[in-house]
Amino acid sequence: MHPLQCVLQAQKWGPLASVSWLLLRTCRALSNLPSTACPSPEKQQEDGVRKDFSSRLATGPTFQHFLRSASAPQEKPDMEDPPPYVTVEELLGRQRKVYLETYGCQMNVNDTEIAWSVLQKSGYLRTRNLQEADVILLVTCSIREKAEQTIWNRLQQLKALKTKRLRSRVPLRIGILGCMAERLKEEILNREKMVDILAGPDAYRDLPRLLAVAESGQQAANVLLSLDETYADVMPVQTSPSATSAFVSIMRGCDNMCSYCIVPFTRGRERSRPVASILEEVRKLSEQVLQLIHERDNICKQIHLPAQSGSSRVLEAMRRGYSREAYVELIHHIRESIPGVSLSSDFIAGFCGETEEDHLQTVSLLREVQYNMGFLFAYSMRQKTRAYHRLKDDVPEEVKLRRLEELITVFREEATKANMASVGSTQLVLVEGHSKRSATDLCGRNDGNLKVIFPDVEMEDINNSDVRVRAQPGDYVLVKITSTSSQTLKGHVLCRTTLKDSSAYC
Ligand code: 5AD
Repeated sequence: MHPLQCVLQAQKWGPLASVSWLLLRTCRALSNLPSTACPSPEKQQEDGVRKDFSSRLATGPTFQHFLRSASAPQEKPDMEDPPPYVTVEELLGRQRKVYLETYGCQMNVNDTEIAWSVLQKSGYLRTRNLQEADVILLVTCSIREKAEQTIWNRLQQLKALKTKRLRSRVPLRIGILGCMAERLKEEILNREKMVDILAGPDAYRDLPRLLAVAESGQQAANVLLSLDETYADVMPVQTSPSATSAFVSIMRGCDNMCSYCIVPFTRGRERSRPVASILEEVRKLSEQVLQLIHERDNICKQIHLPAQSGSSRVLEAMRRGYSREAYVELIHHIRESIPGVSLSSDFIAGFCGETEEDHLQTVSLLREVQYNMGFLFAYSMRQKTRAYHRLKDDVPEEVKLRRLEELITVFREEATKANMASVGSTQLVLVEGHSKRSATDLCGRNDGNLKVIFPDVEMEDINNSDVRVRAQPGDYVLVKITSTSSQTLKGHVLCRTTLKDSSAYC
């Protein structure tokens, strides 16, 4: 059977094909039962049938068997065994260059990242230059007619690339991915013979096979929709290195069936990605953020991590979703990832049910972490909150205030200790303007986002020793730290500099 035929046929039944088969078999079993008499032949036959059916049901497959990998969606193999008509070799990208073009919504941006992740694992390379491409893949949108027209027009342009391709190069392959492939299926292949592969939104794992089939000059398609495909184990590869944001997809498909909308038909049934896989992706993104903070001089090395309490019991009552231990572990991890990082936090004193022991746990957390900045509050009950409905605001006001005072004192002691360590150091400071307290002083922030106060005097510019300058808001200056408090650093300015030049000094 031609692979295309095979896939399209399966699509006709959809993912429930196996279930239909089971039902058919069951019906046949019913009709083949011998008919015996007594008490009532119909009744007995009915009972026998029911019994037979029940016992078959008990030993037979469950519904889970018909959901591909439903129980362990993360454990899909990287590359499945190749079908008999392609070799493992042919499944490999062999350094062919893929050019991906994305149309439509954020979901398509995510699809592009998944498709690329699959191909990258298979040995394909990525190119952002159309002329260099051996494979061009359009991740398409069908939401409105105009979106599809844009793709048809683009295909006309790509046709020229294919026909003009030098014979010395490997033939150019063109693929339609995503919603339009799903909606129009073979109509695309028939209308545009230059399209080599079609892959619906649930068929990206199959891209290496489809491209391998296309190698032989045949068109190949997989537009099968799935009930459970979420690409949980495929870590999307961020496609734009300069991107300022990243999407984390938590579900695919849609069941809403709004009367005007094609999405349920192109993206299939609604399904959620397993929480563990979402968390893993977010964890990886957070790691990248920590790495960037560590590497880049133009990003402040400061992280605000509101703890609220140092007692796991109170944290649970607050429904914060972490324990003291998990919080401390995270702090250690951040400190290892970004040496010298400045940490700040929020704390609430006297939350519902907080005992003296809980309060002491918060004191000990303040000592253990030694924050550089802190925002501390006495708990005040707010209407509509869960605590308002379910908990009792049972810590007396004077106790709350006494605990708050104690927290502030401990925080200040620790911050002072931490800041003292910087006396004598030279710090890069981004100037903000005049100090609020004194017109003769300037105020800026160091790399840990701490306030630095220094006299507003003329200074040398590191790149031009002939002139003396006064620092302006937005300038970088080097400041030698001479004294500190729990909140600020004080010092005298050495010179005006730039981010680049300063790396030699700080
Ligand atoms: N009472 C006291 N502090 C609160 N915060 C939020 N809600 C309350 C409340 N009801 C504090 C938390 C939060 C910060 C913005 O305000 O510490 O992190």
